[in-house]
Amino acid sequence: MARIPDAFIDELLARTDIVEVVGARVPLKRQGKEYSACCPFHDERSPSFTVSPTKQFYHCFGCGAHGTALSFLMNYDRLEFLDAVEELARRNGMEVPRETQQRNENNDTRDLFNALEAAARFFQRNLEGSEKAKAYLDGRGVDAAIRTQFMIGYAPDGYSALKDALGTDERRMKLLDRAGLFSKNDRGHVYDKFRDRVMFPIHDRRGRVIAFGGRVLQKDDGPKYLNSPETALFHKGRELYGLWQVKQANQKIARLVVVEGYMDVVSLFQFGVKEAVATLGTATTPEHAELLFRNAPDVYFCFDGDAAGQRAAWRALESVLPRMKDGRQAFFLFLPDGEDPDTIVRQEGAAGFDARLQQAMPLSEFFFQELGKDIRLSTLDGKARLAERARPLLAQIPDGAFGDLMRQQLTVVTGVGAGTATPSPAPAPARRASAAKPGQKPSLVRHIIVRLLHKPALALAIESTHGFSGLRLPGMELLLELLALVHARPDITTGALLEHFAERDEAAALQKLAMQGLPGDEDGWRQEVLDAAVQLEKQMLQQRLDELQAKQRNIGLDEADKYELRTLLQARIGRH
Ligand code: UTP
Ligand code: MN
Repeated sequence: MARIPDAFIDELLARTDIVEVVGARVPLKRQGKEYSACCPFHDERSPSFTVSPTKQFYHCFGCGAHGTALSFLMNYDRLEFLDAVEELARRNGMEVPRETQQRNENNDTRDLFNALEAAARFFQRNLEGSEKAKAYLDGRGVDAAIRTQFMIGYAPDGYSALKDALGTDERRMKLLDRAGLFSKNDRGHVYDKFRDRVMFPIHDRRGRVIAFGGRVLQKDDGPKYLNSPETALFHKGRELYGLWQVKQANQKIARLVVVEGYMDVVSLFQFGVKEAVATLGTATTPEHAELLFRNAPDVYFCFDGDAAGQRAAWRALESVLPRMKDGRQAFFLFLPDGEDPDTIVRQEGAAGFDARLQQAMPLSEFFFQELGKDIRLSTLDGKARLAERARPLLAQIPDGAFGDLMRQQLTVVTGVGAGTATPSPAPAPARRASAAKPGQKPSLVRHIIVRLLHKPALALAIESTHGFSGLRLPGMELLLELLALVHARPDITTGALLEHFAERDEAAALQKLAMQGLPGDEDGWRQEVLDAAVQLEKQMLQQRLDELQAKQRNIGLDEADKYELRTLLQARIGRH
């Protein structure tokens, strides 16, 4: 992925007003210094979603959603990071900086996208001209609107239809080749990969064609489906067929249905179930799982009822388990033998298919059912075996209510807990600034951190040559890190700063401190920060004095130590 300098992101966020970005999508009400609304990320009646113009972040007290204008765009408009950056940059008339090499690569990529787009249009034109292909789609009941919406086409028979039409020069030949549209024989002769097939273009998240799946018209004409090979643009483990169309059709995607085939997606869509996506002839990968949940809180996996379907479902379960954060749900639907979503929705309509989804098995049920297969749960041995199988899997579930319930369920079924035999060690003594106990006077370190979180630029008031970095106090490392961060990225907003710590243990605590009300104003805070820094420097002095005096008592001082001690004592006098 093209790396964008932090400084650019900081400037971008500094120039963006999160209130405008959020306000354009969610009606905001002013409340004092902040704005509030009903949270767009969970259902609620009374507003617990706030946007802070000074800190440039949003936070929901209900579901905990939070972030910057960038993360808002990613979550609300469901954009990838780079796309969100580009979107904000465009709004601000800024150009996203990239290395020269990457810029070339981008031109290259654009050419590749264009080649694929041209191929898709070529296939569409050929569908118009092919009675045979049209008859096939008619026969399968694919209507005209859906053909257009999914850009379904036809790759003509013969070995060079596409090559002759689009490979008009050396450069274009190269592009089509890199787009995965050619095959090569032993003698190096290049020919069309897709021949006499109905073509399903695969779109990326922004609606650009990145690959194709092609289906034979008649049985026995080679493999039923042929997919594009992996290319610079297409990694099948990361793409979901139909996701683009689903996003186009829904303002908000409440659920996604994962099916196995192109035709399943297309038929479901035609009959009104506009929430289906397909993996592309592969198992559900962890990347798929991530992509699915990033787009919808509820995911339904739909499989054949046979043994292969059960295996595929288990693979999907393994991919989603580590992503089952609270608020997410996964279900498994097994269809009767010989049926697939395409045939079901044609027989039973959207309502029938929907009714089946309502009956789908929750992940928890499928989990214990599969693990308990071939185990006699009435025996102690059986219970122990089930517990053993379950533990490593349960350990992958993120902290939260769902994980707790799953572990409880294991205890109910087996009488054995999910934890390890030895109790986990007691939590380490409070190390972080935020961990100060209630009622206790907040430490100096915490005092500064809170103010930096409210106004990061205050860190610039503390010179980087400050004299307290060796002080052994809880939270000191974090404070030093914050100071260094702001000195390196002076434009950083609170939102961006929190984002920087998003993956860290300290994230939740920092978020809380940033949300906390702070009396006074910027000037007051600056003075408080400076005062606290002076206090810390004094403590540092004392710490060093204590060290040297202890050394004097124990092993004696060398010349350098003596000199340092004298200077410190003088400095202390000077300060008093
Ligand atoms: P199926 O064999 O279940 O076909 O393959 P289908 O989806 O029901 O297709 P129709 O209804 O006969 O047209 C399911 C999926 O597996 C992949 C394709 O992605 C297909 O949609 N597949 C199947 C291949 O990649 N290659 C094949 O040869 C067959
Ligand atoms: Mn089918």
